[in-house]
Amino acid sequence: FSFVNPWIRYFLFFFSFLFWVFSLLIVAIGVYAKVQKATTVRDTFLIDPAVILIVVGVVMFFITFCGCIGALRENIHLLKTFSLTLTLVFLTQLVIAILGFFYSDQTRDTLGRFVKKGIVHYREDLDLQNLMDYIQKEFQCCGWNNYTDWSWNLYFNCTKENPSSERCAVPFSCCTPVPGEAVINTMCGFGVQTLDRLEVNKSIYPVGCADRAVLWIESHLFLVGALALGLALPQV
Ligand SMILES: *[C@@H]1O[C@H](CO)[C@@H](O)[C@H](O)[C@H]1NC(C)=O
Ligand SMILES: *[C@@H]1O[C@H](CO)[C@@H](O)[C@H](O)[C@H]1NC(C)=O
Repeated sequence: FSFVNPWIRYFLFFFSFLFWVFSLLIVAIGVYAKVQKATTVRDTFLIDPAVILIVVGVVMFFITFCGCIGALRENIHLLKTFSLTLTLVFLTQLVIAILGFFYSDQTRDTLGRFVKKGIVHYREDLDLQNLMDYIQKEFQCCGWNNYTDWSWNLYFNCTKENPSSERCAVPFSCCTPVPGEAVINTMCGFGVQTLDRLEVNKSIYPVGCADRAVLWIESHLFLVGALALGLALPQV
């Protein structure tokens, strides 16, 4: 005979049920992305983001299923599996977060490798292009170290032999908006890599996205902490 507090039981049931439905949604989005896209984004990142969604969704589905049915049926085996796997997942996340914090230089390098791939494959995938444009506009930055990183891309590469019409250019998303400009000059990034520093500062964001990211995190430490807590709290 074992007694389970009905409040805890139904709280656990509804809470798990909520995240169980949520996990199905994540898997559905992952599968949809996987079917819809047959192009380069998946090669750009080490692992296909759609696969990450599917794996996270399936793990979440398994854990919340154990919690949900375990609470409903008062099945001790399922509840034990639930608490054990959830603890394991939580500890893994904690270790990754702590390592990421203490090895921030390596974290920065890893991020840099992703952004470099994003720059190299910029013209090959519309989603990737939109993502890079979004990052540069939102963080008001250009390239990873600085704007000359766009030479990593075949089209923007600044060697003399490059036959591309966009040789030495940077994408439009690097351009600083000109207040009151009637006609937007989408060619403002053309030839920027050959200009001298002073003129570069006038037309595009002169700072690389790496420095911007560090600044952003430092000035939004509270938000970053809240976000981490928001992810950790339901698990706790
Ligand atoms: C851009 O960054 C690279 C790599 O850090 C550096 O070698 C180069 O001098 C920088 N160029 C400018 C114009 O700041
Ligand atoms: C630009 O292209 C040349 C020739 O293909 C290559 O040697 C060079 O490494 C490229 N530049 C960058 C920054 O990747």
